[in-house]
Parts: sequence; structure tokens; C-alpha cells
Amino acid sequence: MCGIVGVVGNKNTTDILLQGLEKLEYRGYDSAGIYVTSGVNRFKLIKAVGRISDLRAKIGIDISGSAGIGHTRWATHGKPTVDNAHPHLSQSGRFVLVHNGVIENFVALREKYLADVKLAGETDTEIAVNLIAKLVERDNLSTQEAFQKALSLISGSFAFALMDTTDMGTIYVAKRKSPLLIGLGEDYNMVCSDAMAMIRETNQFLEIHDDEMVILRKDELKILTITGAEVVRKPFTAELDLSDIGKGTFPFYMLKEINDQPTVIRTLLQKYTNGTGEMMIDEAILADILASDQLYVVAAGTSENAGWASKQTFEQLTGIPVSVHTASEFAYNFPILSKKPFFIYLTQSGETADLRQVLVETNRLGLNALTITNVPGSTLSREAAHTLLLHAGPEIAVASTKAYTAQVAMMLILAKAIGVKLSNPQAVTLDLVRELGIAATAIAAIVDMKEVIDDLTYQYTEDTRNCFYIGRGSDYHVAKEASLKMKEISYIQCEGFAAGELKHGTIALIEEGTPVIALISDLRLAPHTRGNLMEVYSRGANTLVIATEACAIDEDEIVIPNVHPLLTPLVTVIPTQLLAYYASLHRGLDVDKPRNLAKSVTVE
Ligand code: F6R
Repeated sequence: MCGIVGVVGNKNTTDILLQGLEKLEYRGYDSAGIYVTSGVNRFKLIKAVGRISDLRAKIGIDISGSAGIGHTRWATHGKPTVDNAHPHLSQSGRFVLVHNGVIENFVALREKYLADVKLAGETDTEIAVNLIAKLVERDNLSTQEAFQKALSLISGSFAFALMDTTDMGTIYVAKRKSPLLIGLGEDYNMVCSDAMAMIRETNQFLEIHDDEMVILRKDELKILTITGAEVVRKPFTAELDLSDIGKGTFPFYMLKEINDQPTVIRTLLQKYTNGTGEMMIDEAILADILASDQLYVVAAGTSENAGWASKQTFEQLTGIPVSVHTASEFAYNFPILSKKPFFIYLTQSGETADLRQVLVETNRLGLNALTITNVPGSTLSREAAHTLLLHAGPEIAVASTKAYTAQVAMMLILAKAIGVKLSNPQAVTLDLVRELGIAATAIAAIVDMKEVIDDLTYQYTEDTRNCFYIGRGSDYHVAKEASLKMKEISYIQCEGFAAGELKHGTIALIEEGTPVIALISDLRLAPHTRGNLMEVYSRGANTLVIATEACAIDEDEIVIPNVHPLLTPLVTVIPTQLLAYYASLHRGLDVDKPRNLAKSVTVE
């Protein structure tokens, strides 16, 4: 979703802004812009619809300056047009602003303060920049005072970076709910939506908390609360490695990230087990879970699918009931909680606004929670009592792949650790280090089958408008993840169903040639799923089977190695990631940046 970069005090400002915006591309956006200043009232403001490359093309010859702000916009209020792209100038031309988030009371603010102001576009951001200008120009407030007053008048979510064209040396920054981070350079400072976009320049960062503003200059910065109290905070060093952000020789990040998965599992084993095969999880986390009577896993999208794929295993290994919830629904419809609930927030980015809404409430209720995330220092990680990091390396492709496998593996490691504490016989006898090692090898073997899967994708999805995945038990949960992946990057309407449910309605959609892909990894359920597959085959479906060796028959198209029954969601998902990848590729789509989607979903 929208991204912000700002820099003050560096003569390479244009380059830093553009490179930063490129690093933020993965979040998803539809237009972009930069404002670069080289002196009082000497500035360039350039905006473009489309990609950063379109913006670069508009810039043409190099523009230079020593401060500026840039933005990638994911449209919320108003279509993706140049007028709606950020940065936005106030009507007077004095103030310039970039913004992430949603200003909920923009209509009321407009009516009360800005009835006489003519707006160029349709965004809520223009209300904010004109409000600040009005408070300076009408009420004679300083820029800092006006910014502070505007923040107190605005309701909703925001990350702001504001500049005053009469002062090229200061960026005014503030946040509420939307992510924003300060980067500390030598003799210059930066602000950005995430650390990845600044890591080329610095690994020293400073957090900004909600309802704080930061006055950023080249050699100083001041953090203030929205009410003006000064805050002292120490910087931290981020452990990001610049080389993690490249895609190497792979044509797309998604393919690289699919390939990364065996390494991701092995890294998790290194981080969370000792040499003798014991799980090494923070005792405080284990104590909180052991004291609970039910685990509530709250997540969205692929992470929710990872939650579902982990639920049964977690229950089997621990005996503790686990319920999985869609964050956006949970946030405003809290169910009756068990007596001792414990919350687990599963989130690749650690920034998803829907989850954060639930976390704010569980924190208010005084409930301890655990965030399982791939992003150290992310909002959900900072605000939950505990964090377990996925150590998967940055996931850049919008379609999540390695974060899913890392989440499922992490939940297994956690379940094993809890189960052993509870002397659960299944947990005690499970040699998880060995089994995860086998799964990592199996994943590598499936990735090596990519040419076969590429051919099958062509045969099954070339002209199709729709497609179905079916499965039972954990294969059903993987079917849902498989269909999400297919939809989001190939734009084929694809649904994942419990195989036994088809006959209760969905089978009406089966026509001559409709692709139906069955996942079969459980010997107990295989005959039933095969029966359901025959039902759709008899009605014209173009059927394809992904089966583990133990469940496979000669006719099956994709046969994958066996793994421990509790670990199958780690491997059955891999061919489906490749099917989605090739379906997108064959259609000539931008695999890594599908339309309308954002990597970091920071609005509700
Ligand atoms: C799909 C995908 C999304 C995310 C969802 C939650 O490939 O990536 O469905 O899983 O937006 O995001 P996180 O995990 O960052 O909370």
C-alpha cells in the first residue's frame, strides 16, 4: 500500500527518493511522485500514473536538490490520476505533503475550514495540506504549530511527511496507525514507510509511535507527542542485508521466493532448535500459552490460510483448542472469549491494519499476545507482548509464498515446544527436526519439477475464465490458499472447496473443460476426494491431481514426495504456487505486482 520516502540534507536527494520508491514498489501502488527542493521556493514537483519507471521517464534530465519527499500511491479516495498522485501542494503553493492512511473526517474538515479552497484532485490528503496552510496563513501559527493542531483535528489513520517551501531544511513527520520510520544518516536524515527502502543508506533507525510528530533536519531531530511533550528514544540497528532484497538471476521475485522455501525451513530450524533437537522458544511465550485455555489465531489472506493449515496440528500436538479468525471480521465482532484466551497474530508484514485493530483491543483488555511475523520492528511486533520472527528474508512479490511456509513451520515448532512441556505423547515422539528436514528436501524436489508444472499450467489454464481446487482435511485449507494465489496473480476466478461440499451447490458451476485440481495427501480421505473428482469429471471437468506418493495412482499428473502427515501443508502448497506463477506468466502479467493489490495492507 502507499509508501513514503523523505530525505533532508543530502545532495543525492533525487536518487535517494527514486531508489527508495523503487524499494517500496512491492507494497503495491498505481501512481507516484516526488518533490525535490534546492532552495527557498526553488523546487520541482513531478508526478506520474503507473510505475516508477514512468516517473523516471518524466523526470528526464536529472533534477537536483538536497531535500525532498516522495510517494507511491495506492488509490483509496479518488482514481489513480496525476492530480490525485502525491505529493500534494496547498492551494497557496507553500506547503507540500505526502500521506498514507485514510482521513475519516475529511468531509467535516473541508466544510468547517476549507469551504473557500479549490482542490485540484479528490484525495483526503489535499484536505490535510490545505488545513495546515489555512492554520498558518489565517491563524498566524508557525508551521510546527499548524501541523500539530491539524494532527489533533484529524481522525483516522495517517503517516505524513510535510515540507514548507519557504524552509528547505525541515521535514515534519507524524504517524497514527500507518507505518513510518526515521533513518539516521551521517549529516542527513530520512523518513520512510519501511527500513528496506533506506537500507542502502543506513542501518540506524528510530521508531515513531502513534500520535507522535518528528521535526527532522539534516543534523538534528526532535520527537514530540501530539500534545507537544518531548520524547527521548534510542535508535536501533536493523539486521537487514541489502543482498536479500535482490532477485538474483530469477526473472521474478515470486519464483525466487518459491525457491527460497527449503532454506527458509532450515533457517527456522537453526533459529529455534538446539543441537539435540529440542525446540528453543522464549520461556515467557511458552508460559503464557501454557496458562491459556484457548488460542485465537487472528490473520488475513494467506496468513489466515496458514493459520487454518496449522490449527489441527497444533491441537493434536498440544491438546489446546485453536480457533482461527479473519482479522477484519474479528475486529468489530469480538466473540465471547474463553476464560484464559491467548492471541496469536500471524502476519508476514506485521503491519496489517485489520490485525492491528484487534491487537489494540486485546492490549486494552490486558491480554498478552504473540505476533508471528517476518518483519522485525514492525508495528504488530512492537505492540504485542511477544514476537517470534520468521527469518524468511524480505518477501517482495505481492503474492506470499515463503511467508506461508515459514508460518506453518513456525506454528509446528511452537506446537512441538508446547506439546513437549505438556508431555503430549504425539509431540514427544515427533522428531520435528528430522521431519522438517525431509519436508525441506521434498520442497526442493517439487521446485525442480517446475518445467512439468509449467506445461500442465498451459494445458489446464490457458483459456480458462475459472478454475477450482478441491481437497479434504488439510488439503482443503491448502486448496483455499492455492485458489487465492491463482486469483491474485493470474486473475483467473479460482475457488478452493472442501471436496465433499461440491455436491451441495458448487457442482452447478462445472461445465465442459472447467479445470478442477484435487489435492490428495491423506490416505484416509483419498478415496472420498477421488470420488468427488469423478463426479466433476463425469460432468465435463478437466481434472488434475496433485498427490503425495503414498496416495498417488498411475494416472495422477503431479506426484510429490511423502512427508510426515502433520507436515503435508508445507509441500502440497508448492505445486499450486508454481501453477499460479506460470498461469500469470503465460498471460503476460506482472507476476510480482498484480493489479489492485498491496503487499502491506495498512488501511482497514
Ligand atoms: C496473498 C497475500 C495476502 C496477505 C494478507 C495479510 O498472497 O499476501 O493475502 O497474506 O494481506 O498480510 P500479512 O501477512 O502481511 O498480515
